[in-house]
Amino acid sequence: MRDQTIAILDIGSSKICCFIAEIGPQHERPRVIGIGHRESRGLNLGTVVDMEETENAIRTAVDAAEKMAGGDPIENVTVNLSAGDPKSTQLCVEVEVAGHEINDGDIERVLDSGRHYLNDQERFVIHSRPTSFSIDGVGGVRDPKGMFGDKLGVEMHMTSASISPLRNLQTCINRCHLNMVEIVFSPYASGLSTLVADELELGSICIDMGGGVTSIAAFKDNEFIFGDMVPYGGHHVTRDIAQGLSTPLPVAERLKTLFGNCLSGVSTVRNQIDVTQIGDSGQESVTTIPRRMLTSIIEPRVEEIFEIVRDKIKAAGLENTAGRRLIITGGASQLGGVEELAKKAFKCNVRLGRPLNVDGLADTTAGAGFSTGAGLLLYAALKPEELHFMEQKKPQLGVFESISMWFKENF
Ligand SMILES: Nc1ncnc2c1ncn2[C@@H]1O[C@H](COP(=O)(O)OP(=O)(O)OP(=O)(O)O)[C@@H](O)[C@H]1O
Ligand SMILES: [Mg+2]
Repeated sequence: MRDQTIAILDIGSSKICCFIAEIGPQHERPRVIGIGHRESRGLNLGTVVDMEETENAIRTAVDAAEKMAGGDPIENVTVNLSAGDPKSTQLCVEVEVAGHEINDGDIERVLDSGRHYLNDQERFVIHSRPTSFSIDGVGGVRDPKGMFGDKLGVEMHMTSASISPLRNLQTCINRCHLNMVEIVFSPYASGLSTLVADELELGSICIDMGGGVTSIAAFKDNEFIFGDMVPYGGHHVTRDIAQGLSTPLPVAERLKTLFGNCLSGVSTVRNQIDVTQIGDSGQESVTTIPRRMLTSIIEPRVEEIFEIVRDKIKAAGLENTAGRRLIITGGASQLGGVEELAKKAFKCNVRLGRPLNVDGLADTTAGAGFSTGAGLLLYAALKPEELHFMEQKKPQLGVFESISMWFKENF
């Protein structure tokens, strides 16, 4: 059997990135053979606001990746989703099985009734996973196949998004002559590439701090159990700096990445920094400011993001389970002091995450900003039930919806 080629697109609010990878016949780790990324255009908080600009940005990233991979055009892509207000829903549904031995058809039927519940509400189900089954109201059943009962119930975790932003994204991708074969909620992908086996099993939360959004995905018992998003990220920090120091955005961005820190009270070697400022009449001048002034602008914004994330974790009831261990990734997690500030804000175990389990990433694409892309490759390479670091405990149910099929049925 030959190696198979897979491709992904991470469409973020800062950058659009395309990875092409090869996987061996035994579903070995993806080996990246083509990389293309460019500044993102035409998007706001992951939502397409200018189709043409988005299309051009995707084309440029894909062209570069294809060239690097040897020139063959790619056709199918697995894509991340941050648009359409993605939400987690926990749902319990029951179907009649009339006393017969429960078979795969019954299991599929009960899962389908859950998915239809959300599809009926004009939301598209991106992920749907059973978390546990019940027979005649008695819960905690792991594998109902072969058992007898009158009613089969399932507790499901579903992630859904509204349909229009998804359609717009798909149109842009189609215009680039690509098929969107799978769609993955961004932080879920980031979690797949940054968490280690114990974290997936025992429970932990991946927080992806991007440019426009900070998104969260909780995992436990090797399952994705909760996801949410906060519409703030690194861009907001940059804007705060630009405003606070009356400096242009590119200067603010540079100050942030070179000297930025979100922890006040840390002594730094270089305590004074030069800032290009714009005066009332538009003239530029260079002023020297204490570095702690920069920190005092950055810290409250990052603190605010962490507070909102903390409230969401609490509201989802994950504070004392998956919420005991956090893995922070995404481009904005590279800001100085993020790990320490997170430890203070969340009062739990925190570590910074980078993409794991993917070979061939160049130094520039092996950092925290590429966790979603690497996770998309893992998702595309292996059905989630087969991820080699996820011990299979639940029955194979084929529960991940095929987006292409759904789109065919619905449009
Ligand atoms: N070294 C660094 N220090 C601080 N911030 C950084 C650094 N490198 C990148 N960033 C910030 O990371 C953000 C971009 O992160 P990332 O590439 O993960 O975003 P994205 O995936 O395009 O966006 P999103 O996930 O929000 O749609 C920008 O705000 C950028 O300023
Ligand atoms: Mg991102």
